[in-house]
Amino acid sequence: MYNFDEVIERRNTDCAKWDIVKDEDMLPMWVADMDFRCPPEIIDALYRRVEHGVFGYAGAYHSYYTSTINWMKKRHNWEIELDWICSSPGIVPALDMLVRGLTHPGDEVIIQTPVYHPFFSVISNNHCKVVENELVLDGYRYMMDLDDLEKKLNPNVKLLILCSPHNPVGRVWTKNELIRLGELCLKHDVTVISDEIHSDLVFPGYEHQVYASISPELARKCVVCNAPSKTFNIAGIQASSIIIPDESIRREYQKIAKNTGLGLPNVFAITALQAAYDHGGEWLDELRIYLKDNFEYLQKYVREKIPTVNVISSEGTYLAWLDFRGLGIDDMELENLMKQEKLVLSPGRIFGNNGWGFQRINIGCPRAILIEGSHRLEKAVGKIK
Ligand SMILES: Cc1ncc(COP(=O)(O)O)c(C=O)c1O
Repeated sequence: MYNFDEVIERRNTDCAKWDIVKDEDMLPMWVADMDFRCPPEIIDALYRRVEHGVFGYAGAYHSYYTSTINWMKKRHNWEIELDWICSSPGIVPALDMLVRGLTHPGDEVIIQTPVYHPFFSVISNNHCKVVENELVLDGYRYMMDLDDLEKKLNPNVKLLILCSPHNPVGRVWTKNELIRLGELCLKHDVTVISDEIHSDLVFPGYEHQVYASISPELARKCVVCNAPSKTFNIAGIQASSIIIPDESIRREYQKIAKNTGLGLPNVFAITALQAAYDHGGEWLDELRIYLKDNFEYLQKYVREKIPTVNVISSEGTYLAWLDFRGLGIDDMELENLMKQEKLVLSPGRIFGNNGWGFQRINIGCPRAILIEGSHRLEKAVGKIK
């Protein structure tokens, strides 16, 4: 049994989530990392690596790849070859390199909004056009709008960046949904970059489907981005795997990764990834239950105490999507009330135009923090006249 209830002081640890928020009384429930200590097996492996005391360039790290291969097989029933795996410090730099390598200025790239906000900047900063295929809120959960997607798949579209599972709406896309999306993309010769960074964090009862594992045809026209960073709360260590079955796509990626020097993992990333994938399974299974319980706590609390707010149904990730549109106030006013109650969430509008009226809350924290956050939320909403 791991203790996810332990509240760990993160202030003054050069921590984005807690230290960027200068006011000590603020409760940060925004940026996507968790307030839990990572599995002890990772900490022990890092201690052993530190003790060696020599931290030169990494090389010949085959077992690092083997750990990734085994994890994908064991956890996601996806068989991959060692050659397919490219290293990147993070998914965002990899997305940037992929857009750079696989498009020309003026090309169009589709994303399904509301979505993780750096998707916008990696496209537009590489001189491509963002095309939004908006998700639709079907009562209690979001769905893909595949009719709209088909309309937008014109010859200028070169890529679709898929968020699977989806941040911020918490959908774990089904095999059928992915097949239908994949068929459309194949028909229009569009490469899919499937960002699967949240794939290990699906709630018990749901199953993540790796996009590339659906068929060899889809695998040839896609890139899967994965990492132990969200799963084991080691984002600051920076280890990600960009898995590219197709040789020509892989060559494009590797060319840029070589130029930027971002293809070489740091020695702690190698150690942490291996320990996580080789020994972190039990910790992860307990975490998934804890996160689901956190989500259910929040959902129940909001239903009972703040019924004007709607918690969108979630199937995974530790990010919950809150719908405040029923309050009839604008986002600035809402954010001002949150500020007065010293609660830091992520404004929905950063995830796309259809994110206005929403806020994202990070529930990857001990229950005591979630309870405090829920109280503050209730107080903030209660101030509305
Ligand atoms: C969908 C998605 N992709 C990528 C990232 C960040 O990836 P990295 O820190 O590896 O660049 C996040 C972090 O929240 C995310 O939600």
